[in-house]
Amino acid sequence: MNAPVRRVPPRQLQVELGARSYPIRIGSGLLADAGAWRELRDRPLRMLTDDRVAGHWLKSVVQQLDIAPEQVRIVPAGEATKCMTEVESCLDWLLETRMPRDGVLVALGGGVIGDLAGFVAAIYQRGIDFVQVPTTLLAQVDSSVGGKTGVNHALGKNLIGAFHQPRLVLADSETLGTLPARELRAGIAEVIKYGMLGDADFFAWLEDNMPRLLALEPQRVMDAVERCCSMKAQIVAADEREGGRRALLNLGHTFGHAIETHTGYAQYLHGEAVAIGLHLAADLSRLLGWLAPADAERVRAVIASAGLPTTVPEGMTPADFTRHMAHDKKVAAGKLRFVLLRRLGEALVTADVPSDKLEALLERHCSAGTV
Ligand code: NAD
Ligand code: GLY
Repeated sequence: MNAPVRRVPPRQLQVELGARSYPIRIGSGLLADAGAWRELRDRPLRMLTDDRVAGHWLKSVVQQLDIAPEQVRIVPAGEATKCMTEVESCLDWLLETRMPRDGVLVALGGGVIGDLAGFVAAIYQRGIDFVQVPTTLLAQVDSSVGGKTGVNHALGKNLIGAFHQPRLVLADSETLGTLPARELRAGIAEVIKYGMLGDADFFAWLEDNMPRLLALEPQRVMDAVERCCSMKAQIVAADEREGGRRALLNLGHTFGHAIETHTGYAQYLHGEAVAIGLHLAADLSRLLGWLAPADAERVRAVIASAGLPTTVPEGMTPADFTRHMAHDKKVAAGKLRFVLLRRLGEALVTADVPSDKLEALLERHCSAGTV
């Protein structure tokens, strides 16, 4: 268990999407705070969670919401649960327990539970309300906000899904106290991503505050979650369906997905692969003459300071990268699009990376192992 998180006053942000706008409440001890759940009083409720999260956090939520055991579904923890078979079982459960159309499905857990519950909510009786209660750092800064929901298919990750915005996000930093340290660090990769793509001051703040963040100092955790959610809320409000700017959130993911695919999703957590991808994206930006060499080094150093990997898997070749990246969702008109840095704190999407620069990057990182 990580260091206990002390309580500090909650904060609230808003995702502005017209009639589908919703608040993000960020606090320490929110799950046990009756006021945080006020919108859910008097609504028919169901809750989806996994067997690890349930062991730590279900009791206090059940107490607040006063829900009966049949209103709660506990699924196995892990990515394998994000599948169509589980979607069908959840739909069966909602139908068998007569969940009405004005009910609310509460997702208590990490990105797996949020994505699964959100998709079930999107299709049950053509769509019901759902609430995200993210319990991993990755889910608090990324997956719980923005309405991307879905499950995996045998042919690939997140290939089946829907955009369906939650009605409320409740991010309680206290829940991170029981998160395995490796999962916490993986979430920090996504936090670093936000500093790199949109806020150089926040990046510098991360350089100064990494040990306090890893120690789960409440003020620091809430500052980081608030900053990331605020950036994501702005991006989603401007580009809900990823026609443009939302793609910036994929910084580091093209390389990261290639690494995850190459290693069969077994060696790295998603955030760890993204961490290596962030390093590669920064170094490619340097090779293109955009990012100052000193800033590319700052990216490597801050990733390493979070205890995250920065080097590509041993034995992975440039050909492995290009083969896996060819299947990336960001391939458009046969050209691979990269999210790169014009400078620290400013990202862009480009399909114009000269092949010699990409080859130079991959040669350098695949052969050295210590870059
Ligand atoms: P996860 O939900 O699998 O959680 C990681 C592990 O931590 C699980 O074993 C879980 O049981 C456990 N856990 C969660 N909270 C805990 C807590 N407070 N204490 C103890 N254990 C806890 O994984 P994740 O990293 O949160 O999310 C990854 C998923 O999110 C992937 O499926 C990914 O595709 C998806 N994702 C979605 C979006 C989006 O925009 N929808 C964005 C990024 C990632
Ligand atoms: N995680 C990327 C997005 O929400 O668009």
